[in-house]
Amino acid sequence: ARHAPLTLVVVGASGDLAKKKTFPAIFSLFYHDLLPDDFVVYGFARREMSDEEFREMILGTLTCRVIDGAKCAERMDAFLPRCFYHKGTYHDPATFASLDEAIVANFESRLTESVANRLFYLAVPPSVFAPSAEGVNDSARAKGNGWTRVVVEKPFGRDSASYATLRSALGAVLSEDEIYRIDHYCGKELVQNLMTLRFANAVFEPIWNRHHVESVQIVFKEPFGVEGRAGYFDNIGIVRDIMQNHLLQVFALLAMEPPVSLHAEDIRNEKVKLLRSVLPLAADDFALGQYAATADGKPGYTEDDGVPAGSRCPTFASCVLKVNNARWAGVPILIKAGKALDERVAEVRVQFKPVAGDIFGGRPSRALANNELVIRVQPDEAIYMRIVSKVPGLTSRMEEARLNLFYRHAWEESKDIPDAYERLILDVIQGEKSLFIRDDEVEIAWDLFTPALTEMEAEDSSVVPEAYPYGSAGPANSDMLAEKHGVRWSERA
Ligand code: BG6
Repeated sequence: ARHAPLTLVVVGASGDLAKKKTFPAIFSLFYHDLLPDDFVVYGFARREMSDEEFREMILGTLTCRVIDGAKCAERMDAFLPRCFYHKGTYHDPATFASLDEAIVANFESRLTESVANRLFYLAVPPSVFAPSAEGVNDSARAKGNGWTRVVVEKPFGRDSASYATLRSALGAVLSEDEIYRIDHYCGKELVQNLMTLRFANAVFEPIWNRHHVESVQIVFKEPFGVEGRAGYFDNIGIVRDIMQNHLLQVFALLAMEPPVSLHAEDIRNEKVKLLRSVLPLAADDFALGQYAATADGKPGYTEDDGVPAGSRCPTFASCVLKVNNARWAGVPILIKAGKALDERVAEVRVQFKPVAGDIFGGRPSRALANNELVIRVQPDEAIYMRIVSKVPGLTSRMEEARLNLFYRHAWEESKDIPDAYERLILDVIQGEKSLFIRDDEVEIAWDLFTPALTEMEAEDSSVVPEAYPYGSAGPANSDMLAEKHGVRWSERA
């Protein structure tokens, strides 16, 4: 075996995250022969379910990239018999003890190897992170020299104070080494490529600073609203859902100093150092929005079941980060995240300063647009540089053109890019932590956003969400925010 035998326990096995992401990713790893030879999957949740029903559920929600073909069916037939279900209550230590007995009886006692590892994936709301982790620690740790690793996923609290409580509750029963905090954006192909792009090429680093960069824009847009998730979302809002974690992570990898090595601690040290250089955010640094119903029948946010009347929960936010360090001082970093907008996109735009000593007489002015490096995380992964070029032929006309790295054209492999969760679960099994968020990193991320959130959520806050039509480009106040910092959102392709 390449790895010691492994039990993967998915706590919260009947929830959305488990069904949509966790099980499909585990199956895909198995399909690609990346799991240890000896492994079992345990689903753990409160509801009654037989092993058979559990297997049906996995089969019924298989959304990974390998859903077709004879090989898939054959691998599924081999996979499902290794899946078992255990009913339990997250708060009840006795159920973790009975889970432990089941794992030993069904699996570990039959192994010839003496070391068997256990991975617990907590696909549950944060309110039950701590009791679940306690249950694992008290009754279900791996035996002997096997490792125990626990995966948790945001939201890690809702502000600095609640994170501190969560952190100490988990820290009381698990070591930092054992905790894997997922931010699935770190597992996305293009986000992983940021370090390679910056540090394995000689051409970018020399211009990756305030002398050459005019602004940076990091944008997340979704074309659908909270449809059905309002119960979760209304208490969270877009700033906590997307900005404080996914977009901040992208920013950290984009703007940090070169790490000493690729070792996880070295990378995370640089991310933390950068985040500590960001000036504290205030309500003034934000523009908020909330989507509204349209004439053609698209629902407004407050019409969703579970949204309290008059909710001021933002479904759109933009903000400006200012970094107080030698590389970025004075460069506005604009971040935007919104639901129910006009398109689905996640991308980074690095806008460079205009050409100095323009000999073209600014003619025509549009042709001398600033260079812009675009890193499109999704959809249609790409990295391209917008440049100015002479139009071919007997003309001196200039136009904008692109230096293109379209993944679709460049790599055969890009047809089959693994889901972020596959990469991340594989890394947990391999003990590779560089794509996971360290405890002090979450802390500093909350410290950055908490004061502004508190200010904006106060009854008398002057920053209130501006209504924008479902399916539009977002509220006008976001453009005004950019303008205030001398920047315009780049809307061009
Ligand atoms: C999740 C958010 O973390 O990320 C969702 O809670 C959001 O609101 C999702 O839709 C977006 O992820 P992706 O991978 O589809 O861009």
